[in-house]
Amino acid sequence: MRVVIQEDYNKMCKWAANYIAAKINGHKEARPFVLGLPTGSSPIGVYQELVRMNKAGEVSFANVVTFNMDEYVGLPHEHDQSYWYFMHDNFFDHLVDMKPENINILNGMAEDPEEECRRYEEKIASYGGIDLFMGGIGVDGHLAFNEPFTSLTSRTGLRALTTDTRIVNSRFFGNDPEKVPAFALSVGIGTVTDSKEVLVLISGHNKARALAKSVEGNVSQKWTCSALQMHNGAIIACDEDACGELTVDTYKYFKDIEKAERL
Ligand code: GLP
Repeated sequence: MRVVIQEDYNKMCKWAANYIAAKINGHKEARPFVLGLPTGSSPIGVYQELVRMNKAGEVSFANVVTFNMDEYVGLPHEHDQSYWYFMHDNFFDHLVDMKPENINILNGMAEDPEEECRRYEEKIASYGGIDLFMGGIGVDGHLAFNEPFTSLTSRTGLRALTTDTRIVNSRFFGNDPEKVPAFALSVGIGTVTDSKEVLVLISGHNKARALAKSVEGNVSQKWTCSALQMHNGAIIACDEDACGELTVDTYKYFKDIEKAERL
């Protein structure tokens, strides 16, 4: 596992955007580059930087297919807290060459959620899997909407949200946890770790425990993000604020090993 520690949130986002752009630009095959994407506050700076680079002609999305991690059940596209809305508002609508037909987001209004999730997994497989999955994590270490004790081999499916997560996410729903949908459709931990590379963003003091559990803790379904330890191409990009719970030795190790300028 790589842990790339950047001074602050903006630098973390710039590093991640550069990394993703370099991977897209380095993809020389005719088949599309398949990119997994998250929502949340953490990736917003990455999306802004990728949009800037795209407008400046530094990276093209013409041959990129995207799959989003998750979506609330019961929110239509036009709901301003649906992840469909978030992704278009913060990213897709600003790209100059993203093809709408290449955007994949789970449909939280599907009449048959199981069928929707099965179809999603099949569609990912039809492209030969995901090249790079970017993610964020919750304060309880959830990756996508895979709450503590979701199997580390889970696939795309219906997830119940914990009260804790509904309370954390209630900041977007008028601070009322009851307004936060109780269910979501989400890719599984196995879906994420099947990707060739996984890049997870971890920023801020409130994520310090989750970062320490991801890097130093046991591989455990209690902290679903710890599954990254079993992945051969996992990178955590984080900021200094998120490092507060790492041991000094761990922090020094990653600072040392990453000090050579590399992507
Ligand atoms: C939500 C999303 C996750 C996201 C998490 C953290 O619960 N389902 O995919 O990683 O929030 O969000 P933030 O980056 O805003 O802290």
